[in-house]
Amino acid sequence: MNNISAKETRSGKPTAAIACYKLTKIFNDGASEVKVLSNVNLTVQRGERVAIVGPSGAGKSTLLHILGGLDTPTGGRVLIAGNDMAQLTDADRSHIRNQYLGFVYQFHHLLPEFTVLENVCIPLLIRGVTPPEAQEKALALLSKVGLEHRYKHKLGELSGGERQRTAIVRALVTDPVCVLADEPTGNLDSRTAERVYQSMLDLNNELNTSLVIVTHDLTLANKMDRILHLENGGLELFVQ
Ligand SMILES: Nc1ncnc2c1ncn2[C@@H]1O[C@H](COP(=O)(O)OP(=O)(O)OP(=O)(O)O)[C@@H](O)[C@H]1O
Ligand SMILES: [Mg+2]
Repeated sequence: MNNISAKETRSGKPTAAIACYKLTKIFNDGASEVKVLSNVNLTVQRGERVAIVGPSGAGKSTLLHILGGLDTPTGGRVLIAGNDMAQLTDADRSHIRNQYLGFVYQFHHLLPEFTVLENVCIPLLIRGVTPPEAQEKALALLSKVGLEHRYKHKLGELSGGERQRTAIVRALVTDPVCVLADEPTGNLDSRTAERVYQSMLDLNNELNTSLVIVTHDLTLANKMDRILHLENGGLELFVQ
């Protein structure tokens, strides 16, 4: 994957964190077709924070999965840090995901039998970081979100908000270019949600990570640089 760094420096300036062009997604189950995305264009700059809102079933999660290389579009292109995902092999796509992206899901997808520290270290260890270095990095970030006293606890012993903060640290610990978050505060009470997204925004500021957040929470959406509304397959600037 030596071509990645070459692409980033060729133009002399960093490429957009994520871009998609004329994205279309049609689900076809044999009997019927559901057109979820139609001609969606989006460019997320480095450090930029974008919220995506829209009604249930509009295709927000579908869009996020495609932007993150977890699903393939029916038509159009996705570029992650300048790399055209359709041109890559499966192995290279996984490499790009691991190298450039972080994911936060509504239901955290952490490993309950492992400690907070272990959960956060896993993405670093996968990248070949040594265990002492991984632990140092993980502890530094955990302390920024107020979890330094919880790092030896198993995930199963934490509250919902603590788990979600752990998930955010895990998504950011590898210094990704962009974090894709699908309703990261969706199942938390409003005070805990506020704390969780403040942690996310603080880390985003400090690390200059781009954020694309799907949310129903307009208080969170209003903290972003842009709010986009997805409905009837199209993405438009949200007007309040
Ligand atoms: N694998 C699939 N096969 C067929 N249809 C699908 C598939 N995944 C999603 N859909 C359909 O695509 C549409 C968009 O789904 P998606 O999950 O992206 O919506 P959403 O905007 O995230 O909704 P919510 O706010 O409820 O999470 C829905 O009508 C859904 O039923
Ligand atoms: Mg969804």
